Order: sequence, then C-alpha cells, then structure tokens
Amino acid sequence: MSFTHKSVFRSAASLALIAIMGTTLLAGVNRLTKARIAAQEKRVILNQLGQLISPDRYNNELQLDLFTFQDDLYFPQGQTVVTYRARLDDKAVAVVMKIAAVNGYNGKINLLVGINEDGTLCGVRVTSHKETPGLGDAIELEKDDWILGFFGRSLDNPPPAGWAVKRDGGEFDQFTGATITPRAVVDAVRLALEYFSAHKSFLFESAVNHAD
Ligand SMILES: Cc1cc2nc3c(=O)[nH]c(=O)nc-3n(C[C@H](O)[C@H](O)[C@H](O)COP(=O)(O)O)c2cc1C
Repeated sequence: MSFTHKSVFRSAASLALIAIMGTTLLAGVNRLTKARIAAQEKRVILNQLGQLISPDRYNNELQLDLFTFQDDLYFPQGQTVVTYRARLDDKAVAVVMKIAAVNGYNGKINLLVGINEDGTLCGVRVTSHKETPGLGDAIELEKDDWILGFFGRSLDNPPPAGWAVKRDGGEFDQFTGATITPRAVVDAVRLALEYFSAHKSFLFESAVNHAD
C-alpha cells in the first residue's frame, strides 16, 4: 500500500470508529431517557391513583391489580388501556383506567379516569400531555381546578347532550382561546364512562395480565 493509500485508509477507519462510538452513545442516552420518562410517569400515576381513590376505600394492592385490553371503538389509535381495580375485602369498589384523549391540540393527552362501582366518576387526572402552555395546559391540576369538575359526574349527570364543552352546547367550561383541549378530554372521559357501562363485569373480573 502506498503512503497516500495508507493515510486515506487510516482517516476512513478513524471516521468509522467515531461514527460507531457516536451512534452507540446516542442509543444509550436514548434508552436512559426513555427509561427515566417511564419511571417518572409511573411515579406520577402512583401518586395520582392515591388522589383518585382514598386509601381507606380499598384494601387490595391497587397498583398490582391491573390488566390491559384494547377496544378501538372507545379507545382509538391502538391504545392499550391499563385498568387498575380497587376492592374492599374482594368487593369491587372502583376502577381507574389509563387512557388517552386522542384529539388534543398537540396529540394525545394521557389521562387516569377513576370510576366508582356505581358508575360515578371518582376523578380524572392528566398524567402527561403536549398541549400549549398558557392555553391548553389548564387541564393540569397544578395549573387549574378545571379537571376537578368531573368528580361525581356520570353518564346521567349531565345527561348525554351535556357531555360537551359549553361552546358545543354542553356543560363543561372551555378555556379562553382554547376549546380543542378541553373538548378532547370531555370526549375521552365520556367514552370511558360508556365503556364502563357496557363492560363493567369485564373490567372488574378480568385476570391480572400485566406486570407494572
Ligand atoms: C400557537 C398556538 C397554540 C395553540 N394551542 C392550543 C392548545 O394547546 N389547546 C387548544 O385548545 N387550542 C390551542 N390553540 C387555539 C386553537 O387553534 C383554536 O383556535 C382554539 O382551540 C379554538 O378555541 P376557541 O374556539 O375558543 O377559539 C392554539 C393556537 C395557536 C396559534
């Protein structure tokens, strides 16, 4: 090999090595970031489960009594719905479903929807979203108490026409200059209630099929 060939080969080898090291580093950082986001979301969920159902109402391991299912009719875009069950001495008390409102302004809004055995809501919380700060983020309890307005509601309260934001003739407030976000959340919560009403025993009786 001539001197020029050798030096070209060396440069190419160094470049390839740098590229491999860069890609490996990036993949590692990516994996770590993903794991950190998942761990953070799990912490948020555990904290919020405690807010939705007060601990004196159940004595099972709520965060372990869970199963997953899919039903595109109610939970579109291929969602896998995680459902936690609360029981007192084995008697069904409530479920908490981890669902997504798919029509947010900036994509999916992840929600926990807690539904008592009698079909009333024990609460709704947002676990993560990409809505615009100052416009759509009033769905977060840290920013506004709008999300508390679901407490005690059911499919009959308000009646079906009321399950919309006020601008659409319903009973739920929209935000100033931001109707898309609350509309998406109201729609998703109503669908979760409809699913509960149609599949209540499935929700309470399905075997644990998911380790979290
Ligand atoms: C940069 C930008 C960001 C916006 N972010 C949101 C949002 O996060 N949520 C929302 O509902 N509307 C958002 N909007 C407003 C919507 O485009 C839309 O106008 C509004 O939701 C309709 O509400 P209105 O009928 O009360 O005007 C945003 C608009 C702009 C220009």
